[in-house]
Amino acid sequence: MSGSRVVALGHYQPERVLTNADLEKMVDTDDEWILQRTGIATRRIAAPAETVADMASEAGAKALASSGLSPSDIGQVIVATCSAIDRSPSTAARVAARLSIPSAVCFDLNNACAGFCTALATADHTIRAGAARHALVIGAEKMSDLVDWTDRSSCVLLGDGAGAAVVSASPDALIGPVVWGSDPTRSNAVRLVDSWQPRFAQEGQAVFRWATTELPAVAAQACARAGIAVTDLAAVVTHQANLRIIEAMTRRLGLAPDVVIGRDVVESGNTSAASVPLALSKMTERGELPSGRPVLLFAFGGGLSWSGQVITA
Ligand code: ACO
Repeated sequence: MSGSRVVALGHYQPERVLTNADLEKMVDTDDEWILQRTGIATRRIAAPAETVADMASEAGAKALASSGLSPSDIGQVIVATCSAIDRSPSTAARVAARLSIPSAVCFDLNNACAGFCTALATADHTIRAGAARHALVIGAEKMSDLVDWTDRSSCVLLGDGAGAAVVSASPDALIGPVVWGSDPTRSNAVRLVDSWQPRFAQEGQAVFRWATTELPAVAAQACARAGIAVTDLAAVVTHQANLRIIEAMTRRLGLAPDVVIGRDVVESGNTSAASVPLALSKMTERGELPSGRPVLLFAFGGGLSWSGQVITA
């Protein structure tokens, strides 16, 4: 049966690095607390004038260049984001304009931190349905616009950036079946408060418990649906929310000892929908992912929602 595959990746991070020492000067916190509770050492912060569309375009341009395709080959552009300020035109349409993609269907998708994996499944389904041959799928966020910089419990967590993937039709289905869903009874656990000047808010411990106790079994279903055992995985790239969550989740999955685990949260912080493609692209660029082997992508967050799939890169 034919399907689709990720043929190229790209990423972009703003230049400004915000360290834990910088945060010590802004709120009552310290490097030791942040490292112990989150594993985060640095995060990138966009310039005031830098937009989600700017970052998405940079990442998308790199993925497109590395795919060897021309802009006119792209039939679909999806930008997963919860922080883009423009409602219309969509950020995806702005990316298409910047990259001279002439006639693709363009739309944004907001599934918070789970957005990129949801968008990747959407592109896979579109290609399987024959409605496009090539798609550009981007996760891009400017979370610094949504941070309450006086709230020490959240301002240490978040960062800005973008990651992108070109997805193409393929005789082999190298993007596996998606596992996705939500728990609307807990929709307030991660949210933006005040619609005029939205600010990030969360029940941190409830989210931590949910992610580490309930989600490993859901992530394992992505392997079952792809027809592989969890122990067949060569790499796991989960949502980069917190190093303690990544370590608890991957421990509970029962992975083989030599599995490569995405830990980009340490240098990038939590970049919401950008976190999975950003980590994946950086790991690929550094040659850390064995080629032709299964990689589990799994993202989760506001909704509460989750999405994930096994890809073979
Ligand atoms: N520096 C120093 N002290 C702090 C800080 C800080 N930055 N933030 C909170 N504290 C204090 C609190 O005030 C509290 O003090 P108190 O005991 O005197 O009241 C103490 O540290 C413990 O606070 P907790 O909230 O219980 O700390 P916890 O160990 O739960 O860590 C954290 C907080 C890191 C947010 C954790 O709950 C977590 O990782 N949750 C997961 C949620 C997450 O990752 N959300 C990201 C967005 S949603 C997503 O991406 C899935």
